[in-house]
Amino acid sequence: MTILVTGGAGFIGTHTLVELDAADHSFVVVDNFSNSSQKALTAVEKITNKPICFFDVDVRNEEALQQIFENQAAAGRPITTVIHFAALKSVSESVSHAVRYYDNNIGGLLKLLGAMTKSNVNNIVFSSSATVYGDPEALPFEENHPVRPKNPYGHTKAMAEQILDDWAKQDKKNKAIALRYFNPIGAHPSGIIGEDPNGVPNNIFPYITRVALGHLPWLNIFGNDYSTVDGTGVRDYLHVVDLAKAHELSVRYLEKSSEGFFKAVNLGTGTGTSVFQLVQSFELQCGVSIPYQIATRRNGDVSSAWANPQLAKNLIGWTAKLSIADMCRDGWNWQYKNPRGYN
Ligand code: NAD
Ligand code: UD1
Repeated sequence: MTILVTGGAGFIGTHTLVELDAADHSFVVVDNFSNSSQKALTAVEKITNKPICFFDVDVRNEEALQQIFENQAAAGRPITTVIHFAALKSVSESVSHAVRYYDNNIGGLLKLLGAMTKSNVNNIVFSSSATVYGDPEALPFEENHPVRPKNPYGHTKAMAEQILDDWAKQDKKNKAIALRYFNPIGAHPSGIIGEDPNGVPNNIFPYITRVALGHLPWLNIFGNDYSTVDGTGVRDYLHVVDLAKAHELSVRYLEKSSEGFFKAVNLGTGTGTSVFQLVQSFELQCGVSIPYQIATRRNGDVSSAWANPQLAKNLIGWTAKLSIADMCRDGWNWQYKNPRGYN
């Protein structure tokens, strides 16, 4: 049995490949390298000590995907499950280039499902996001919280979940899990793979590590007047290695289930951390001081968001194990050893 990993060269994809390998799964990767490079896969090979079979293919190319499914089957290594990471993920860019986001994220999913259907591949793990919830009615977020995304990126994730739900209903063999990630940060403890955003990071953790390197002068903290423990925004940060393990467990769950289904599952620690707390923990763990300025609130930000991760525990047997200190230490280890990322 082989797993197809789309977007496998990206931040979460690379970490997942390492965990799939550790659990003795074989996999092939599809990526168009629009937000990554082949160097990320070479880095994974350094950890696993095995060559990676990858295809420089866009997931919107249904024929190419179908060819991969057919070739794998003909070679006696049929693909049984897909982990679908490939998507564009910038909230701000999704506002200025909404159609490109729908084309890539929704168009890509539809072509992938088309190829899977033609090739009788019935299992999919989909990368969703806590962003589907929008403003919280109550915390922690439960999976049955209303889905009200606030930007085109979030809409693509919510629509994709609906498509997968309907796909699961169209054939009782079809099984889909949408994993709603909260805020993945950190890196593999080896420091060989990690997050490598293009340009100035939008997300807080890579911003902090760039400030720590001295590549950016200070951190702008977007608001210190929220009703939170210290006035700064609160999020449920989780270690990317914990997140990666949840994909391996999801694959196992899909492959052993006999009935078709769609399920959306939160992946978070269940604990909120404020921006100040994150910065303090980083400074303590890494011995680097992070200068900051208080800036105005960022448009579209919620005050607080954290998960109820109970369903992940009940369904796939997953619990986050690594702490904020681990996330800071490992994320800094990667950035310090690779100040220019994979370049
Ligand atoms: P990433 O950008 O590092 O990885 C995505 C990968 O997909 C990249 O390698 C990119 O080149 C590839 N890709 C994009 N469009 C493609 C296409 N049309 N065909 C083939 N490959 C394509 O992002 P990531 O942080 O690893 O995120 C992975 C998934 O998780 C995405 O779907 C993202 O929306 C979702 N997600 C991420 C976060 C986060 O904080 N990183 C949070 C919630 C959800
Ligand atoms: C953002 C996206 C979300 C996406 C997630 C992961 C928005 C509104 N939301 O979530 O859709 O799924 O990234 O890609 O963009 N902060 C600062 N200074 C910074 C950056 C962030 O103070 O330079 C604060 C934010 O106000 C927030 C916290 O840090 O309180 C986390 O921000 P971020 O890492 O961008 O994640 P989210 O906003 O949760």
